[in-house]
Amino acid sequence: MAVIRSVIRGVGAYLPKRVMTNADLAKIVDTSDEWIVERSGIRERHIAADGELTSDLAIAACHQALIRAGIDPVDIDLVICATATPDRTFPSTAVRIQSGVGITKGAAFDVQAVCSGFVYALAVADNFIRTGQSHRALVVGAETFSRILDWSDRSTCVLFGDGAGAVVLEAQPQHGTREDRGVLSTLLRSDGRFEELLYVDGGPSSTKTVGHLRMNGREVFRHAVQKISGVIEETLLATGYMADEIDLFVPHQANVRILDGIAKKLGIAQDKIVKTLEKHGNTSAASIPLALNQAFEEHRLREGSLVLMEAMGGGFTWGAALARW
Ligand code: ACO
Repeated sequence: MAVIRSVIRGVGAYLPKRVMTNADLAKIVDTSDEWIVERSGIRERHIAADGELTSDLAIAACHQALIRAGIDPVDIDLVICATATPDRTFPSTAVRIQSGVGITKGAAFDVQAVCSGFVYALAVADNFIRTGQSHRALVVGAETFSRILDWSDRSTCVLFGDGAGAVVLEAQPQHGTREDRGVLSTLLRSDGRFEELLYVDGGPSSTKTVGHLRMNGREVFRHAVQKISGVIEETLLATGYMADEIDLFVPHQANVRILDGIAKKLGIAQDKIVKTLEKHGNTSAASIPLALNQAFEEHRLREGSLVLMEAMGGGFTWGAALARW
């Protein structure tokens, strides 16, 4: 039976020029390259320049994704931006991206699920496409976490970086089988009881300030492997695939020990994991599309590749998506 699927037509990314190494950080806080690499796998991250906004990063990523997709911006009718670091409290960063890219029709809005934002935005766009409300969508993950870090807190400031990544989705008729191209399944989860383990201590309604990221890293770590593995198992069950049938595992890049822990638990081979955190750090909602972009540029993503994505972030929010490139 013919069905409409959201086929990924193109991917793009952008990283700010400035690179901050672990050695640079050791000049600001009491830390070392050895500690950061051993505990997280991160060696360096990109930091946005003064005046370089989340929307600037996103627009650059969208331009590249649209060119690679061969799609004119005027043919896009949906823009969803996943971000926890918007340019302004309002309007949404998505409408700034919309006008910056030259899109004049359809709808644009932000999705806020912190590090899970890209998986959430992908799921929302996929639902718009499959129900016929959108034909071509830009799904962007873009962050300037450097703006909400407490640069005197060594337990958090060493982990994050800035960047953006985007994909172009297009409605295409497929056969309705698991061999189809496009998004095959998405699963989203959240549990607000865990808010105090990872949050920003400010906001327009509570403090009238932007605030700083606060995290109980050890507790977040404890939940991550278990919650992410669970939602991946559900996603695989929904499509009938086994973990060893995945061609590429594109996880949210939080900590190399979390990625390896999940892959080991599920039986996903090391050579199928896309890792970018060594060079990007944790870029929150941008990390999955940045990793997709890296895999594309390394020719690891080909038409027909079965791609598993997952993420977990503040909330807690978490989720997984399975797509055939
Ligand atoms: N440099 C040197 N020492 C440090 C640093 C640092 N940057 N940060 C903390 N320490 C010290 C601590 O003070 C502590 O010292 P103490 O034992 O004298 O008290 C010691 O190192 C160990 O600290 P822990 O927090 O127990 O270290 P842990 O092994 O748990 O690693 C880390 C910390 C890397 C944050 C880890 O817990 C982690 O990655 N957690 C997951 C958090 C995460 O990924 N969050 C991202 C958002 S959510 C997501 O994307 C999944």
